[in-house]
Amino acid sequence: MEIGVLGTGLVGRTIGTKLFQLGHEVLLGSRDEANPKAIAWAKKLGGHHALYGNFRNAAAFGEIVFNCTLGAASLDALHQAGAENLKGKILIDVSNPFDYSTEQLSLTVCNTDSLGEQIQRAFPEARVVKTLNTMNFNLMVDPDKIPGRTNVFVSGNDLNAKGKVTMILRDWFGWKSIIDLGDITTSRGVEMYMILWVSLRRVFSEDERLNIKIMTS
Ligand SMILES: NC(=O)c1ccc[n+]([C@@H]2O[C@H](COP(=O)([O-])OP(=O)(O)OC[C@H]3O[C@@H](n4cnc5c(N)ncnc54)[C@H](OP(=O)(O)O)[C@@H]3O)[C@@H](O)[C@H]2O)c1
Repeated sequence: MEIGVLGTGLVGRTIGTKLFQLGHEVLLGSRDEANPKAIAWAKKLGGHHALYGNFRNAAAFGEIVFNCTLGAASLDALHQAGAENLKGKILIDVSNPFDYSTEQLSLTVCNTDSLGEQIQRAFPEARVVKTLNTMNFNLMVDPDKIPGRTNVFVSGNDLNAKGKVTMILRDWFGWKSIIDLGDITTSRGVEMYMILWVSLRRVFSEDERLNIKIMTS
């Protein structure tokens, strides 16, 4: 499958690498079509299945598109990608709306709205599914780094899109416990959780991996 990954940071490169290893053709997108990180990534993987370009190239290329851009800039990045290139496609949104403009830990959107919803409203013809934003990048495509079944969540309005994303999480990335939270408004919870996640990161050592495990009785 041809997959567009918007974002050249740790998340974009990690997801892009995993998809490449699974045999997919991946185009990593950036503001700059000759982004040095993307060039180095493609060179390291080699072959014709690891490609790079700008956000527009990546969105046009992908049958499925991942949004792995800085949350505060995701809407801009997606506008650069172009609504026409996202139309009808599954847009897997991994971003978090951290507000880095202030010293206080905060989000650019919360409570009655979320970045997932902003993206879905801005691109009504894309099928947005929010997922994987609640953990460190190194767990996203390798959940067995933590023993036991920790959880990943999906939020989105389109049931077929969520079904496909659930398949990707389970069969491609190895997630065994996937919780469908409901429509895209449930992005609010998984984005606001990230404030707690940052506190937890400070409590535990950098080497310790952490994720949510839901227990019921
Ligand atoms: N790092 C993690 O472990 C982790 C875990 C969960 C969720 N997330 C979320 O995943 C997303 C990616 O995280 P990351 O750590 O890989 O990298 P990041 O530094 O948050 O984002 C890197 C990407 O954002 C793009 N970007 C930055 N400023 C921009 C702007 N003004 N306009 C357009 N695009 C801009 C960059 O474009 P260029 O390529 O042009 O530089 C780059 O592709 C974030 O939303 C983050 O909150 C990260």
